[in-house]
Amino acid sequence: MARLTDGHGRRFYYLRLSVTEVCNFRCAYCLPDGFHKTGDDAFLSVDEAGRVASAFSAIGVAKLRLTGGEPTTRKDIGALIARSAATPGIDKIAMTTNGWNLDKHARAWRDAGLTALNVSIDSLDPARFAQITGHDRLKGVLDGVDAALAHDYASVKLNAVLLRDNAEAEFRAFADYVRDRPIAVRFIELMRTRDNVAYFNDQHLSGGVLKTWLDREGWIPRTRAFDDGPAVEFIHPAYQGRIGLIAPYGQGFCDSCNRLRVTARGKLRLCLFGDGGVDLRDLLQSDDDRDALVERIVAAMDGKAAAHRLAENDPGDTRHLAQLGG
Ligand code: 5AD
Ligand code: SF4
Repeated sequence: MARLTDGHGRRFYYLRLSVTEVCNFRCAYCLPDGFHKTGDDAFLSVDEAGRVASAFSAIGVAKLRLTGGEPTTRKDIGALIARSAATPGIDKIAMTTNGWNLDKHARAWRDAGLTALNVSIDSLDPARFAQITGHDRLKGVLDGVDAALAHDYASVKLNAVLLRDNAEAEFRAFADYVRDRPIAVRFIELMRTRDNVAYFNDQHLSGGVLKTWLDREGWIPRTRAFDDGPAVEFIHPAYQGRIGLIAPYGQGFCDSCNRLRVTARGKLRLCLFGDGGVDLRDLLQSDDDRDALVERIVAAMDGKAAAHRLAENDPGDTRHLAQLGG
């Protein structure tokens, strides 16, 4: 069987599939003015998404993440989950969500085949959460996380963007939060995009600050599994959960890249911070095109760059992450 590799010795068994660009939150670093429609073509249908999943599974992809935008703004998100889960060879189905309706649906999505959840929470302080996201809903989101923990997901993780304001207070609050919960909280270094330059300049904080704090508090780096991807996680004997760091500006970050992306309009994106993408949509209209689809994907891999160019201040053509999925 063909396998997905690139010219830099990396293997890809993990696909992030964006199913919408729509988001109902207004995170200060992403969509401060809310979502505005661009382009006329519709987002991938359940059938189209199913064909993407099936082609990637034929070349060794075993894990699929549904992202957005906010994937759960789609009314048919349950069907998208179920179709992904029904694809032979795909055994892990994850979803990244802002958690706005997780409380109500954690059970149904698990039953549909979802196995892992990443919930975005940048602050455990309700007022600050409201300030960052534009929505005073921290409690509801946290209820959603507890619902997920109660419903037997293989993995529940939190994503928190590392921001300069109140950073140490947030580290403390998140550590307290995972003391008795089997959850990994992963701090993500704020990434510069085309749209967020002023916010980035004001709020970007290097991941080193978190590392120093963790070290001081007795957290130790966890041995990495071969398929860990770019996150480094830390453990502590007194805590059930873990704290992680995703530092895209750090040395060697791209070396362990194990992911590919397909946008909500059916373009294969080799890197979050690349340019353009390879359009797959014409081959997503019929099951008969599967071999051609696989061939196009494999051929595109030669174009995957060794690393992004963020340090050279080049974010590619990414305006904000809602456009592509985080
Ligand atoms: N930098 C870092 N993280 C970001 N996210 C969205 N935009 C950015 C950015 N510019 C995060 C979201 C979410 C995940 C999908 O990506 O907060 O947790
Ligand atoms: Fe929406 Fe996620 Fe962007 Fe926040 S970061 S506005 S939740 S897409």
